[in-house]
Amino acid sequence: MNILVTGGAGYIGVHTCVVLLEKGHTVIVADNLCNSKADSINKVRQITRKEITFYNIDVTDEQALETIFLQHKIDSVIHFAGLKAVGESVKLPLDYYFNNVVSTLLLAKVCLKHQVNRFIFSSSATVYGNNTVPFVETLDPLPTTNPYGETKAMSERVLTDIARTNPSFSVSLLRYFNPIGAHQSGLIGEDPNGIPNNLMPYITQVAKGKLEKLMVFGNDFFTVDGTGVRDYIHVMDLAEGHVAALDNLTEGVHIYNLGTGQGTSVLQLIEAFEEANGVGIPYEIVDRRPGDIASSYANVLKAKRELGWIAKHNIKAMCRDAWRFEKNIEQLRVR
Ligand code: NAD
Ligand code: WQD
Repeated sequence: MNILVTGGAGYIGVHTCVVLLEKGHTVIVADNLCNSKADSINKVRQITRKEITFYNIDVTDEQALETIFLQHKIDSVIHFAGLKAVGESVKLPLDYYFNNVVSTLLLAKVCLKHQVNRFIFSSSATVYGNNTVPFVETLDPLPTTNPYGETKAMSERVLTDIARTNPSFSVSLLRYFNPIGAHQSGLIGEDPNGIPNNLMPYITQVAKGKLEKLMVFGNDFFTVDGTGVRDYIHVMDLAEGHVAALDNLTEGVHIYNLGTGQGTSVLQLIEAFEEANGVGIPYEIVDRRPGDIASSYANVLKAKRELGWIAKHNIKAMCRDAWRFEKNIEQLRVR
């Protein structure tokens, strides 16, 4: 299949491109590099020894999208492109609604025009808000608590309505939990700009000595040890989940949680990281981060039943692979 991957130079996109190429698909990436580097595409070539086409375009540019659809016979689209920082979305709501919702609208419009009926969308566990865990796909309505989450819920609704009026449109809405880890080669992984917002990149930078210590946001949640519980999933398992969704895509709208179904607390993740890598992580308990929920983890039965997909990597493997990549980052940057 010829697959257009928007946001394919980003963290999850680049790992998914590797898996798609290894399965024999032809991959065309559209990314404006607002949160990634063109070199990640070279790393995909290096890992897979396969060719991949790259367009440096903004997905909110309809004309640029048209050009790609005229140039290639696209069979399926995976739409990763989006802004993803929750805190930033509160400060810059217009940028988030424009980028994340308009990109989905235009991409769907161009797909329909060119009779491209297979669409995979990157949604997020954040659409479940503060529901009771484990989160199950049937929960409705979606009580999002920030503009970022709202862009995901809105995009889901847009795609659902389009599918309702276009019976051949096949959509998979994939709700990711907390992706961490990196490709086993250590060549690609998560490399955020500035001080990381998310836990694992913060931990790896503390391990490296780039940051002094980890601030653990609260130990008074109603959880196993008082710290926040999340469903961490290896990014390569997530990438495989996209292939499973593509392989099983049928007409209509299908929603899947992509997680492990296991909750891990902040302190448990620190301990697993220390054990897996033999590196200490100094930390300090501080106040809760505004907006954080106590627990988020997935009910994963639907993906297992309908896609035949389950996450295979355990927490230690996630920690090991995240650390391997972090140790390589400077070398990779100068190459
Ligand atoms: P990322 O920032 O690493 O990748 C997103 C990519 O999209 C980047 O390469 C960026 O340059 C590109 N992009 C953004 N806006 C664009 C535009 N208008 N036109 C073209 N390219 C554009 O993020 P990621 O972690 O790989 O996330 C991928 C998708 O998955 C996002 O939609 C994100 O919201 C969603 N998601 C991520 C997480 C997570 O924790 N990483 C969890 C749930 C959902
Ligand atoms: C995990 C846990 C923190 C940093 C966010 C988005 C969500 C999704 C993934 C895209 C929490 C604690 C964190 C730190 C800490 N992205 N923590 N010290 O909050 O589950 O989700 O990213 O869709 O939308 O909201 O992930 O990695 O930020 O936090 O103690 O320096 O680690 O409180 O319990 P989160 P996270």
